Amino acid sequence: MTITLSNDEQSPHILVLGMGGTIAGLAPSPESNPLFYQAGQVNVGDLLTNIEKALPEGLKIVSRQVANINSSNLSEALLTQLGDLVRSSLANTALIGIVVTHGTDTIEETSLFLHATCGKYAGKLSKRIVLTGAMLPSNAPGADGPSNLINAIRWVSKPVDQCPGGVFAVFAGNVCMARDLAKRHSSELNAPLRDSPCSPLDSISQSWLDGVKAIQAVPGDDLPIPREQAWPWVEILTSHVGARSETIQNCLSPGVEGLVISGTGQGGFSNVWKEPLDKAIADGIALVRSTRAGAGIVRPDLPEKDTVGCMASGSLSAPKARIALQLAINAAKEKVVNTKNLQWQDFFVMQTLQTKSSS
Ligand code: SIN
Repeated sequence: MTITLSNDEQSPHILVLGMGGTIAGLAPSPESNPLFYQAGQVNVGDLLTNIEKALPEGLKIVSRQVANINSSNLSEALLTQLGDLVRSSLANTALIGIVVTHGTDTIEETSLFLHATCGKYAGKLSKRIVLTGAMLPSNAPGADGPSNLINAIRWVSKPVDQCPGGVFAVFAGNVCMARDLAKRHSSELNAPLRDSPCSPLDSISQSWLDGVKAIQAVPGDDLPIPREQAWPWVEILTSHVGARSETIQNCLSPGVEGLVISGTGQGGFSNVWKEPLDKAIADGIALVRSTRAGAGIVRPDLPEKDTVGCMASGSLSAPKARIALQLAINAAKEKVVNTKNLQWQDFFVMQTLQTKSSS
């Protein structure tokens, strides 16, 4: 036996949290049709038993099943449970680090969430949280889940002088900062980080590592984790040819607190949206511009686009900007953390204007 799979969290261990996804998926006919499968079928404990022999000698691993779902069904309440569990586990002095196995479809949202709510804490403790998943179900020929999980566990166990603490993601032999993760292909094995600043695991690039250190060194605190029922309602609207002004009003049901525009180019949108969006801002709706282009930065200070109060998403995709906006609105409301009476824009900036890690 090379590793110990255990429930004992009192002696040095790595915690592996299972959320489901394709890494835990099963295909009825894996040989003939591996992409016809159900996500979230195999327990995380069984995923670990399958790779036991490939792990470094003497590791102790504790696993916990947080959920076993297709990540397109991930709820905000589940993010709260995951975030609370990650923070309380980090506080355990016997914990070395945490691996999260997750569906790739929404992993970028969970990654941004954990970075924004647990990243500073993990950095201060010099511990790593590493997200991973798979593009092929667990019983497909050439399944990528086992090697991704092995690599994630290795990355968590790396000595701290080789990489600081923080939140990372590992896929297809590469590692990136979790906040940079963005699924940019529907089926390639490296889809979640193919366009992200990353480094090959077997030859970590110095410029990537310098980027990680720069982000971890940015002063500031983690944002609070919203309570399960307290997540602000924020919608994403995609700008497109033939946009209608009524669309804005239609998506502003009572209770909606924010909108993220997945805009054209640098975060633009049709002129017909200008007036209803100005009115929405005047009515207290938080507005963020991002781009549907799939890559690149959306900069602030484009006067023709930035009505007073509207923020630019920086490097965040629309789904990540939505999570960032929810956390920012929540932080502005939480008087315990917001003793300086900051606005949601101040909390949003903390997540978007940090130094971007380089490839
Ligand atoms: C999921 O996101 O749960 C399914 C797709 C995947 O993991 O690749």
